[in-house]
Amino acid sequence: MAHQSDLIASDIEQYLQQHEQKSLLRFITCGSVDDGKSTLIGRLLFESKMLFEDQLAAMEADSKKYGTQGEDIDFALLVDGLAAEREQGITIDVAYRFFSTDKRKFIVADTPGHEQYTRNMVTGASTADAAILMVDARKGILTQTRRHSYLMSLLGIRQVVVAINKMDLVDYSEATFNQIKEDYARFAAQLNLDNITYIPMSAFKGDNIVEPSQNMTWYHGTTLMGYLETVEVDDTRMQRAPFRLPVQWVNRPNLDFRGFAGTVASGVVKPGDRIRVLPSGKESTVDRIVVHGGDLAQAVAGQSVTLTLKDEIDISRGDVISTAEAPVETADQFESTLVWMHEDALLPGRPYLLKIGTKTVTASVTDIKYQVNVNTLEHVAAKKLDLNGIAVCNLSLDRAIAFDDYQSNKDTGGFILIDRLSNNTVAAGMLHFSLRRSQNIHMQHVDVNKEARALAKNQKPSVLWFTGLSGAGKSTIANLVEKKLHAQGNHTYLLDGDNVRHGLNKDLGFTDADRVENIRRVAEVSKLMVDAGLIVLTAFISPFRAERRLARELLEDGEFIEVHVDTPLNVAEERDVKGLYKKARRGELKNFTGIDSAYEQPENPEIRLDTTALSADEAADAVIELLKEKGIIEGGDWSI
Ligand code: ADX
Repeated sequence: MAHQSDLIASDIEQYLQQHEQKSLLRFITCGSVDDGKSTLIGRLLFESKMLFEDQLAAMEADSKKYGTQGEDIDFALLVDGLAAEREQGITIDVAYRFFSTDKRKFIVADTPGHEQYTRNMVTGASTADAAILMVDARKGILTQTRRHSYLMSLLGIRQVVVAINKMDLVDYSEATFNQIKEDYARFAAQLNLDNITYIPMSAFKGDNIVEPSQNMTWYHGTTLMGYLETVEVDDTRMQRAPFRLPVQWVNRPNLDFRGFAGTVASGVVKPGDRIRVLPSGKESTVDRIVVHGGDLAQAVAGQSVTLTLKDEIDISRGDVISTAEAPVETADQFESTLVWMHEDALLPGRPYLLKIGTKTVTASVTDIKYQVNVNTLEHVAAKKLDLNGIAVCNLSLDRAIAFDDYQSNKDTGGFILIDRLSNNTVAAGMLHFSLRRSQNIHMQHVDVNKEARALAKNQKPSVLWFTGLSGAGKSTIANLVEKKLHAQGNHTYLLDGDNVRHGLNKDLGFTDADRVENIRRVAEVSKLMVDAGLIVLTAFISPFRAERRLARELLEDGEFIEVHVDTPLNVAEERDVKGLYKKARRGELKNFTGIDSAYEQPENPEIRLDTTALSADEAADAVIELLKEKGIIEGGDWSI
């Protein structure tokens, strides 16, 4: 029960000892803006009569036990949860509050309920044992309620309290309570939530929070505090799982010591245990488990340690050390669930950074298999994913990673996606399984390679990537450059937007998603043509930095030459060779670049052609000069 223990005054040592032995429950509260979340948390804190001194005393005890600050209080202990998520790179908007009763200690993740809510909830829920789902008795089950329930089931929270709040405003009606309970149970039956407890309450009036309500004598169940104090917490689950340690850093202070530091994500490890390191697959035996101040006989999930091994094997940050008996898997293609958390939509084909544990790789969605309608749980087709969208997607990574499925291990199966240009966290995800196709396809060695073909053609294969607004002059200048190169005996190919859109890309339109796919395919085709030894010219608006960067990164250093055909919008619109600007201004052409679709200017192109100052021929000559400077073509007579 709520307490301000007398022991604090009379026997602090005994109090602290009792306090240390109490179990810890981490929970989150979910709900929409006005459903009384803050009132509830305020009331729980108030009812537990948690004093600041009390909190300090608790921390002092914890600090002596685990802290790093000697006799001083280690405030970091209080925000440990926070630090863990910082490490994950998630922008935090979640306050963790700490309180305790005679029976238990609690950490509640208080997630503000605005439109960024999904992100905060995913953050708060990643470590929660239980969730309180707030429902306003006057409104019943809302879309938000369903969304949050679905998220809880995805995130693996199994213990749920449906807190039917504001009962005082519906005259403490049993019928209302039963109706909401029935509605929710029908929805939840489709989710993976096993333990649902329904409590009618008024956080404002205090009904069924700590004391059973006198206004709802028809209810015989537990109070909220009663629930929180007794709900079972399986805090040894992660210790029973197979051993995994994502390596955070390699500690090599001198030649005699080489340790691998990180937090044990799951399982138990002892000196003498056989381990396997993934993705390399190398094996060794644990020699020592080192912590500040000495060696340990074993380490368990949650502890931060440094392992040394019996053999010298190559291990770097991001690798996972796992038990050799049940090693972690590796793959570079997956099925996964994605929760999209940014205003800019997810576009399949666009590269993002994927951070899993201590490893960061590049990843793109190859296919949105289906989006989930959170109201009906129906599967719907989707070409992109907007803010708060949840979908099952296939992912392709640029490298293999070590992983578990999320259901068996949140640390080695959960990941976030980060936008490469803005550095924003844009999604949270859960890995399901690896796609077998990636394991059955290997790169085939060929003897006649790019170097051989380049030599035969006496040129350095490369891509001249022309980018700029519609009507900027890309096709005209690219055409002239190709003519000049061809006349000198160079081997070229011009991929022009309008032409490619008649064949290879005739299934694509001008939405952001289609433009991403358009450029991704053209980038891949260009890479093949470079491999064939050609000088490739591409003339596409290619409005987004992310995809121009993708094209650049598919090639080797020096092979990609970005040519910005820089014609201001008003000049391109003035010329309006195809009459498309007029159409767009009349509203007859949607998503037109520069009008109602963005063009992201190149930041560091290899060459910028100002078409207001140069004729097309002069611009083409400037490109040729650059190619000579870069040694892509040889000098010669370039007049045609
Ligand atoms: S990109 O954005 O995906 O790179 P791409 O270069 O292939 O575009 O195609 C652009 C050409 O398609 C334009 O030059 C124009 O002729 C035509 N076009 C038709 N509709 C649009 C539109 N909505 N926005 C831009 N170009 C369009």
